[in-house]
Amino acid sequence: MKADIGVIGLAVMGQNLVLNMNDKGFKVAAYNRTASKTQEFLATTAKGTAVQAAYSLEELVAMLDRPRKILLMVRAGEAVDDFISQLLPLLDAGDIIIDGGNANYPDTERRTQALREQGIRFVGAGISGGEEGARHGPSIMPGGNEEAWPYVKLILQAIAAKTPNGEACCDWVGKNGAGHFVKMVHNGIEYGDMQLICEAYQFMKDGLGMDHKQMQETFRAWNQTELDSYLIGITADILGYQDSDGSPLVEKILDTAGQKGTGKWTAINALDAGVPLTLISEAVFARCVSALKTQREQAAKLFSRPNPIIKGERESWLEALRLSLLAAKIISYAQGFMLMREASESFGWQLDYGNTALLWREGCIIRSVFLQNIRDAYAQDPELVFLGSDPYFRDILQTALPEWRKVVAKTIESGIPAPCMTSALTFLDGYTSSRLPANLLQAQRDYFGAHTYERTDRPCGEFFHTNWTGSGGNTASTTYQV
Ligand code: ATR
Repeated sequence: MKADIGVIGLAVMGQNLVLNMNDKGFKVAAYNRTASKTQEFLATTAKGTAVQAAYSLEELVAMLDRPRKILLMVRAGEAVDDFISQLLPLLDAGDIIIDGGNANYPDTERRTQALREQGIRFVGAGISGGEEGARHGPSIMPGGNEEAWPYVKLILQAIAAKTPNGEACCDWVGKNGAGHFVKMVHNGIEYGDMQLICEAYQFMKDGLGMDHKQMQETFRAWNQTELDSYLIGITADILGYQDSDGSPLVEKILDTAGQKGTGKWTAINALDAGVPLTLISEAVFARCVSALKTQREQAAKLFSRPNPIIKGERESWLEALRLSLLAAKIISYAQGFMLMREASESFGWQLDYGNTALLWREGCIIRSVFLQNIRDAYAQDPELVFLGSDPYFRDILQTALPEWRKVVAKTIESGIPAPCMTSALTFLDGYTSSRLPANLLQAQRDYFGAHTYERTDRPCGEFFHTNWTGSGGNTASTTYQV
């Protein structure tokens, strides 16, 4: 009997996906560039399973049922292109290659097109959930050549996480790079969620003077509210974790954050598309600031800081902080969905936003009850432009706003940096302003560069130039959009 699927790449994610597929009754053929890893896998974790090893790509291809389905779980970038070119001469028209790695979506766009021309169906599937997710049910975001979907749907949905209603957190996202784009936004949102939690932790620790047990209990309690999510849960665990000397391990960890680039890609994309993805961008920059440890240690001597300990009313501050975190999270997701809408329209992906929320509901790092609310919001209104205008989210924002302003004001007054909570509030204030000071900005642009402006008392599209000083020319520069 031939294998249902071949998996190339037996690092952590690859191995766990193979075992997951095997558990679900699929016959898997496994290959890795370094043969010793394959041998070790078969002799240890995969021992006693129906997984078969292949020691060359020829052997792998010969083991597969047609149309052949090959899942690449290798390092993003060159390794994917290398395997594709090695596989091409061995495959037949209609065969399917799935890239389950962390590809940058333009690469997936390019690969889908190039392989389509060669008769090979390419799928770029974002997979999130880490080792545990890969083993027991990740979130899977497949896009690419839609002709492949009927052939891979069964396997991918079988291994994916399931919502409490039993729906698979895996569905077709859209053509070409859509799946990897959605995965990228997922990762950007993950950056934002993590930074928001870190800001809340610093407020509790430095602002409210809480100890680790109290912070752990607070996060545990928050996890029973609208904030119920994987990241809040692990934060409670981390805060309660003691080092061998009984002190909280988290305080011994160097405060410089690493990053692999997906948050940065999301922010770059937003800048290119002109979408105000402020919270995620601030989260990326917060990691950059954290990485400047040596400079920070020097700069820390420059100015005196206020003593941030807030006296009294801890419970009411904590509730205000919880609401601030929740409200800022709504803004982060609202911005992420704005970015997806913009991309969907410009690439013609026809993304289904409610479906996207469903894909992230379980299995992935940002999994949360909150995503069910987002799904419900898009079920009510599939064309929802701003998540904050959905009644459920609008009500939360309405309740949170006075508390949120109080918390942000306190962080600023106390010298506790909270870039994400602050920028989310600033965004909301700007986004909900029917008039901004950009009239003055346009006047400045016209003053120094004759860039022209439109008038509130004239139809849009009519451009005016004023000779502000009487000494400049009357010639306007051409108008263009960036
Ligand atoms: P990890 O996740 O452990 O950091 P990695 O170095 O990113 O691993 O590699 C993940 C997978 O991509 C492995 O299967 C690796 O193959 P090896 O075990 O032979 O190293 C594969 N991989 C990475 N770079 C590759 C390349 N240039 N060509 C082929 N396979 C590659």
